[in-house]
Formats: sequence, C-alpha cells, structure tokens
Amino acid sequence: MTFKRGLVVGLTATMAAPLALAGPSFDFTPNTTPDDGDIAIYVGVDQALSDIGTKIDRSVDGRLSAALQGYNFDGAFGSVLTLRAMAPYQTITVIGTGDEALTARHLADLGGYAATTNDGDAISLVADGLSTDVDGAGAYLAKGYALGGYHFLKYKMFDADNPAPEPHTVTVAGTERASKNMFERDLGHLVDGVTFARDLGTEPGNTLWPQDFVERVQTAFEGTRNTTITVLDADAIRANGMGALMGVGQGSIHDPRLLVVEYRGGETGDAPIALVGKGITFDTGGISIKPNNGMWLMKSDLSGAAAVAGTVLAAAKRGENVNVVGVMPLAENMPSQDAIRPGDVLTSMSGKTIEIMSTDAEGRLLLADAVYYAQQEYELRLLVNIATLTGSAARAMGDDYAAIITRELPLSLEMMEVGKRAGEDVWPLPLHPSHFVQIESLIADIKNTGGHPGASIGAAVVGTFVAEDLPWVHLDIAGVDWRDEPTATVPVGHGGWGVRFMDELLRSESD
Ligand code: BES
Ligand code: ZN
Ligand code: MN
Repeated sequence: MTFKRGLVVGLTATMAAPLALAGPSFDFTPNTTPDDGDIAIYVGVDQALSDIGTKIDRSVDGRLSAALQGYNFDGAFGSVLTLRAMAPYQTITVIGTGDEALTARHLADLGGYAATTNDGDAISLVADGLSTDVDGAGAYLAKGYALGGYHFLKYKMFDADNPAPEPHTVTVAGTERASKNMFERDLGHLVDGVTFARDLGTEPGNTLWPQDFVERVQTAFEGTRNTTITVLDADAIRANGMGALMGVGQGSIHDPRLLVVEYRGGETGDAPIALVGKGITFDTGGISIKPNNGMWLMKSDLSGAAAVAGTVLAAAKRGENVNVVGVMPLAENMPSQDAIRPGDVLTSMSGKTIEIMSTDAEGRLLLADAVYYAQQEYELRLLVNIATLTGSAARAMGDDYAAIITRELPLSLEMMEVGKRAGEDVWPLPLHPSHFVQIESLIADIKNTGGHPGASIGAAVVGTFVAEDLPWVHLDIAGVDWRDEPTATVPVGHGGWGVRFMDELLRSESD
C-alpha cells in the first residue's frame, strides 16, 4: 500500500500510530554455541578464540581463524571485522578487545560495538573467555548493546511497505547466571533510565512543555516503591517566593513547574543526596533572543532534568540503598509581552535579588531557586546540579568531557574517578573568588551574567545559593548532551548524558 501525506480528515486511521518501541530483549545462556544467524565474537590481540569461538570456527571449517589471519586482524580495542557468507551463520562480526583486562566500561563499549554494527536482526554475542574480573560481564555487554542500539522512531511513519523495525532478541552466550541477574535486577533499569532521559531530550519543544514532562515522569514512576512525587504549579511556585524560576517561565503560556521526586532506599534518617537538573523545555533566549542558527537544539535544554529523572528512576527500580531527592525546575524560556526583560530584578526564594543582564542566562536562575529549595526542604549530604548551562563550557570541553566545578579540587578529582567508571567523563574548570566579584550588581544583590570564563560565572551564580559548607558538584553538560558523532554506547542525537554518571555516584555513596 502506498500512503500519501497530506490527509483528508477521516483517513487518519490508516496512519500508523506513534510507536513506543521496546528495545531488544536479552537472553543469557551459559555455554551453548549458536548454530545460525548473526554472531558477534570477541577476540584480543593474540587472536585466541574462546571455547565457543573455537566451536564456531569448527562449524565454518576453520574459515573464521583463517580470516583473522588473512585479514591481519590486530584485535585492537573496538576494531571490527565483518565476515559474511559464513554458513551456517549469516554474519560473523569480530570485535577486538585489545590486550588489557576489561573493565565494566570496556564491556559496555564492546556490547555497543555489536549493536552499532548490527542491522536489527537477532544476534548472539559470544561472551565466554573475556579477559575480565567483572562479575556478570555479560550484563555489561547487554547494557552497552541496548544503549548503543537506541533509536527514536516516534515520529517516523511506518506501514506495510516500510515496516517498523521489530524489537529483536540478543542472546548473550557463555556467561553465568550472574549476568542474567545483574541485568534484570540492575543494569536493565539503568538502560531504561538512560533511554527515558534520551526520549525526553529528543522530544520536540511543541510536544513537551513543563506539565508534559511532569506527566511523563509520573507515568514512568508508577508502581515504584519508596518514591514520593511532589509537583509545584505556578501558584505554588509564586507562593514559595521562587521569583527566579517564575521569572524565567512567565513569558510562556505554558506555566513553569517544580518537580520533586524523592526516593528513600537508604536508612531512615540518613541525609539524602540532592540531584538538581535544569529543565528548560525550549530555550529561545527570551527577550535576549538567540540567533536562528542551531536554535532547534534548544529543545534539549532540559537534559539536566531528564538525567535527574532517569537516574532516580534507575536507582528506585533496582532498590539502591540510598536516599536521594531529584529536583527538576521546569520552564519554557520565551519572548512575549509577559516575559522578563534585561534590567529586570527578580527576587529569588532565598530573598537574594538578581538583576537580569541577559534573559538567555536563564538556567542559573531556575537553578538558584531549585538548589535553595532542596536545602530548605532537606538536610543534605551532597548537592549535585546538572545543566546545559553555557556555550562556554561546550567550547572549552568539546564532546567527550562534561565540565565539573566544585569549591575544592579534591571533590572534582573524586568525580573524575566516578566518571571514568561510569563511562561518562568529567574534567574540572575553576571557580575563583573573582568570579563572584564579577557578578556583583549595581542595584541588586547579584546579576545573572558577568565576564569570563562563562562556565565559571554560571557556576558562581548557582553557587551563590549553595551553603559553603555543603559538598557541591556543578556539572555543565552543554557540550556533551547531544552528539553529532556516535560512540559505542551513544548514537547520534541525545545521549542522556548524566544518568550513568550520577548512577555511579549514587552507587559509590550507597550503604
Ligand atoms: N541553554 C544555553 C546554553 C547552551 C548553549 C546549551 C549551547 C547547549 C548548547 C543557556 O541557557 C545559554 O543560553 N547560555 C548563555 C549564557 C550567556 C547569555 C551568559 C550562553 O552560553 O551563551
Ligand atoms: Zn538554556
Ligand atoms: Mn539560554
């Protein structure tokens, strides 16, 4: 059937409904050798084949080992050799594992390479004999595979001639039961958390306003134990004196919200960790309007809030032993007759006043009220805020490091280790007393922009609202949330950056 766009009312029933496509499903088998279909097989620099690999080589009459030699496969980490016409198999994809012991991060990447080279058919990952000490290694392969194979298909039209891709089965062969348990009880939820964040970050600005974000989160948390969701609407935001958050949102006909998701999985009475994420559903810049070039990307200016939602979701689903509160200030930054102007002065929840030098420096405004709220409501042991805050951070850091700013370097260094384990790297930028001097205002307590470096100035604005004795981590993810080049575990597009980082942080802070 051919299908024309441009519809007559009444024919819409023939249009494929928007799909909520499930990702692949995973099977974990102990030592069975796959006997047909697509296979991914892992080989190090020594070209040695695992037990299952050897059996596969036998069933193709030695053509696998011959190909490794013939093509001089060097086994370098992440190198890929695709072999076709390997009956009884359809495709054998050989993936290099290098010569180091494989960490959890390596394993996830190795799973990701299998996904990015697979065209959506059922596949077996041959996972016996991997050189690693990681328990449940197969679960990490599966995690990486699921992350690397992410697609956003909601707005694609499918019909009989152009069918939607079917969710396929991935069999992880040669791993113990541990992998199945690890994936089903833990890492599968992490995958869902990242996927949730990616879906939110990809969703266009005209289909995800603050209240929609709230509802998506409420739906995702349905049935989750030990969680409490609180939503402050515009009236409640005003009543709490959150003039900075209200100010950012007041130019839009779609009211701001403050969304709070509390998960209590730790000891009663243990101080929680706050994760505070910027949730601008679209950032036009407001009256200080942005140039058109690339403005579309500002649909993902809620990446911080999306990452917080995904992280708390994963922690709650797996029952992590930690108390955490996710705070997500949500607003749309629009120019209109009701919008704030440059030169306006807003009174934040803390009572401190902020002079608006640029309405495009809006993220720090809503974070000011959100971090203050978190400290008012909870006795915290750590406060993390995460935001697509500055182009400055994006330019300084490039694609592969998020900027991290703390008051004490050792905390940043600790976070670099967290990032390495998580597979989401951070690198420190400075916070100097002069950055606070630069945001002194002539008529208000502070102003919302200053000089350079922009990323540090942004952090100084937020830091003005964070108690000096509270360990505080500021993450500026403006450069990393959206990728133009894929990695093993992040396809082009929204990467859900921060879910894996904060997830690892929660694990390291867990009882
Ligand atoms: N959301 C932007 C930052 C951003 C830029 C995110 C590029 C992702 C990619 C933020 O609200 C913003 O506009 N920041 C301004 C601050 C400036 C006005 C002080 C910026 O970085 O230009
Ligand atoms: Zn913004
Ligand atoms: Mn902005």
